[in-house]
Amino acid sequence: MGLIASVPIDVVAIDGPAGAGKSTVARRVARTLNFAFLDTGAMYRAVALAALAAGITTGNHRELQHFLASFPLTILPDPAGMRLFIGDREVTDEIRRADMGRAASDYSQSPAVRAFCSARQRELGRQGRLVCEGRDMGTVVFPDARWKFFLTASVEERARRRWTELRESGQPQDAADVESAIRSRDAQDMNRELAPLKPAPDAVIIDTTHLTLNEVADRLLANIQGRGTK
Ligand code: DC
Repeated sequence: MGLIASVPIDVVAIDGPAGAGKSTVARRVARTLNFAFLDTGAMYRAVALAALAAGITTGNHRELQHFLASFPLTILPDPAGMRLFIGDREVTDEIRRADMGRAASDYSQSPAVRAFCSARQRELGRQGRLVCEGRDMGTVVFPDARWKFFLTASVEERARRRWTELRESGQPQDAADVESAIRSRDAQDMNRELAPLKPAPDAVIIDTTHLTLNEVADRLLANIQGRGTK
């Protein structure tokens, strides 16, 4: 009889929509705490890149499952973030192409893709001392995370950040196109059947619209350290 209380693990789970500042903030928090950092969107992007190249469509569950059973994805920690390899080909930069965000969102609806990525993420989190960011960290992958945050910002501000990022990485885009791509990705990520984007009931929600990303990282750290790291 009775419920078995789950033991919190030393994971900082950060979720939120595209352009909310998750990646920059997560990297900064990880560096300060000396925790590992995991950008889970990058994993979905790598799967999408490879599945597209192999000509496997998003709805082809059996083929995706078969493909992922031997998918040679390697994730290497790096002071600047994370490096990804498919076999011995590095795809760290290629997955940042503007069209790969949408492709990742499309493939991330597949149960085969979610199972593959979630299993790898749990494996990486098993040792604890991890800061991870994505869409379902606090809700599905690490429901027992000791610290959970949900970052958000107005769609206009998120589009402005993404537009700046793309321009700085040599992929200038029309501002209106960036905003409409963000709106449609939000809708797809929030309304999908599996692991939709939403805050965990016990997440601290932070609106980053009027904050610098340094200020956001400081808020997370104050919250984490206020509640004590092990
Ligand atoms: O964080 P990002 O923009 O690189 O993510 C790309 C897409 O990957 C995102 O639109 C939805 C999907 N994704 C997901 O479904 N679950 C995650 N934990 C991370 C990303």
